[in-house]
Amino acid sequence: MHKQKNLIEKIFKLKQQRRAIILAHNYQRPEIQAIADFAGDSLELSRLAAETKADCIVFCGVRFMAETAKILSPQKTVLLPEYDARCPMASLVNAEDVRALRKQHPKAKVICYVNTTAEVKAESDVCCTSANAVQIIKKIDAEEIIFVPDRNLAAYCQTFTDKKIIIWDKGYCYVHDRITMEDVNKGRNKWPEALLLVHPECRLEVIRLADQVLSTTGMIDYVKKSKAKKFLVATEDGILYRMKKENPDKEFMVVGSVNQCCNMKKTTLQDIFYALHKNQTKIVLKDDVIQAASYCLKAMLTYV
Ligand code: 13P
Ligand code: SF4
Repeated sequence: MHKQKNLIEKIFKLKQQRRAIILAHNYQRPEIQAIADFAGDSLELSRLAAETKADCIVFCGVRFMAETAKILSPQKTVLLPEYDARCPMASLVNAEDVRALRKQHPKAKVICYVNTTAEVKAESDVCCTSANAVQIIKKIDAEEIIFVPDRNLAAYCQTFTDKKIIIWDKGYCYVHDRITMEDVNKGRNKWPEALLLVHPECRLEVIRLADQVLSTTGMIDYVKKSKAKKFLVATEDGILYRMKKENPDKEFMVVGSVNQCCNMKKTTLQDIFYALHKNQTKIVLKDDVIQAASYCLKAMLTYV
């Protein structure tokens, strides 16, 4: 405990010296969320990265999030403390796949989920996150939409529109995709009075059982406002940290047996200290990729 306190003091000192800001995703370890300047979902963190006046952004999340920060703030130093924290879903589609899809569907516009590499963003028309995907699908000026890579989020969006969504069947999040209807039923049997909150990366059959379908911050905000006292949560278990802290009078249970994203859990306090101390791992992207990818991210931020 004493060791951890010392480490946190060193992190704060370095952070001040470097005029840095620490951003953390809602799935990060509790001790990381506790010291972050801000914890949030992908959309909030993108907005903050675009607006911050800090010289350096320490991004505690996975690589695509740190890349997004770099694309939106190219003049700043963006550090990913754990170089190997990657979202497996982001590697399930590449720039070549998007070019091939465009050839097959020349009239379609491309919406890429934020969980993509910078190169995929550079090939896309608009980006989206779990918080704004439905709004963007509705607003985009196209009757045919190629949506990459999350097949579950795409299928969920299709339930809101008559536009044709071309789904990339190879893309999914292994954490959400393995949550089953049986898992939900088990939770409901235990807590019949609880509300079920589901992340839209889950399968459609699980989404259909939900009381609310929300992004991670959407869930946190909903819980705060709700009069209900018990919640079943179909997403990664890092979300419980803020839910419990901000609502000590309410109870939460994640649905499913293994709800951890191992990449989200890779970053430690030690990594953050070394990130600031040794300037690692610096996100470096080619100028032309930054320029093309910023177009689709800025389109998202002006759309909604
Ligand atoms: P949110 O944008 O809802 O936080 O989701 C990010 C993510 O990676 C979910 O798996
Ligand atoms: Fe990627 Fe899923 Fe982990 Fe989110 S929870 S970072 S989508 S693997």
